[in-house]
Amino acid sequence: MSALRKLKPKIHSVGAIDWDRRLFDELIPMPDGTSYNAYLVRGGEKTALIDTVDPTMTDVLMKNLNKLEIKVIDYVITNHAEQDHSGSLPQILDIYPNAKVVCTPKCKLMLMDLLLIPQDKFITVDDGETLSLGDKTLEFINAPWVHWPETMLTYLREDRILFTCDFFGSHLATSDLFVTDEPTVYEAAKRYYAEIMMPFRTTIKRNLEKIKDLEMEIIAPSHGPVYNNPDFILNAYTDWISDEAKNEVIIPYISMHESTKKMVDYFVGVLIERGITVKQFNLSKTDIGKLAMALVDAATIVIGSPTVLVGSHPNVVYAVYLANALRPKLKFASIIGSYGWGGKMIEQITGMIPNLKVEILEPVVIKGIPKEEDFKALDRLAEEILNKHREHNIVKMKD
Ligand code: FEO
Repeated sequence: MSALRKLKPKIHSVGAIDWDRRLFDELIPMPDGTSYNAYLVRGGEKTALIDTVDPTMTDVLMKNLNKLEIKVIDYVITNHAEQDHSGSLPQILDIYPNAKVVCTPKCKLMLMDLLLIPQDKFITVDDGETLSLGDKTLEFINAPWVHWPETMLTYLREDRILFTCDFFGSHLATSDLFVTDEPTVYEAAKRYYAEIMMPFRTTIKRNLEKIKDLEMEIIAPSHGPVYNNPDFILNAYTDWISDEAKNEVIIPYISMHESTKKMVDYFVGVLIERGITVKQFNLSKTDIGKLAMALVDAATIVIGSPTVLVGSHPNVVYAVYLANALRPKLKFASIIGSYGWGGKMIEQITGMIPNLKVEILEPVVIKGIPKEEDFKALDRLAEEILNKHREHNIVKMKD
């Protein structure tokens, strides 16, 4: 859908809203759709397009440029090579043959590989370089690993707008140009952070440090609404990337014959009685994005699984693989569950989480349905989690 809207005089949002998309990379759930934002900046002498759109929506970008009667584009600033932002580049370069693609040297190589863009179409820029559009100046800020190695940010000095592409984005289809409903955008931006950015928490810290002294009136990402209160999203990111974990236990689980379910239900109760926040996810039904969001803050994960053919249930394997890939700030992990005749579930799961810098607390994996001594073992695990949270100052004294 067309989404031609004005940020400021001579600066338009010319991208597309994708109300219907529900999956990204055939992996990431997008319950609220998304947008592919592109921005047109018209200076006194030159015109720049900042990012393009997903190839499925090239016609929308073209229509918006036609509505503005754009006959010449001098530069296409490409902050990120991924195709949902670069996919329309070949058509843009066909229609505007004098346009040059402005990007980092790494991005150039990726675009030559991904989109077969000829070498002579590029101007590469280094960290801190500027480009004058006449009365407007673009400054390029290298910001690698948000979330690919080639990513950069573009700062429009005179208007104090930072164009961040994926960084600070949200998968949210909305007709609002600017954030109007902060709780809804917070939820979508946190989901986006959890699914896309969390593995790069350490580099994001460095990138946040790099932009902290920029005067920003507006942060304009290439997914979701634009922030005219930059502190809203900067403060949210500062919280999400901090090393401080919350007094929360995440329990992703599967149960086949109710034994693991009985253990999970009991365990959740005894954790709640100890003042710990619990988020329980039945992996046969859960939206994996919700699990990713819960992992942003939690101190502890307890994985619940039955045994299937000597290992854990495949849905649990999938969730554990994702948790390991997302590298959340978890401090502790354990396993609970039930088996029929044996198996190597504990070794399998603990072997799958090398990226999680967690202390493994003694698992409670039992034979058959849980009995009195098994519930006592779950009491012991709940108490150990509480004590660990206290020792690490995750439970504050006032709690
Ligand atoms: Fe929105 Fe990394 O692409």
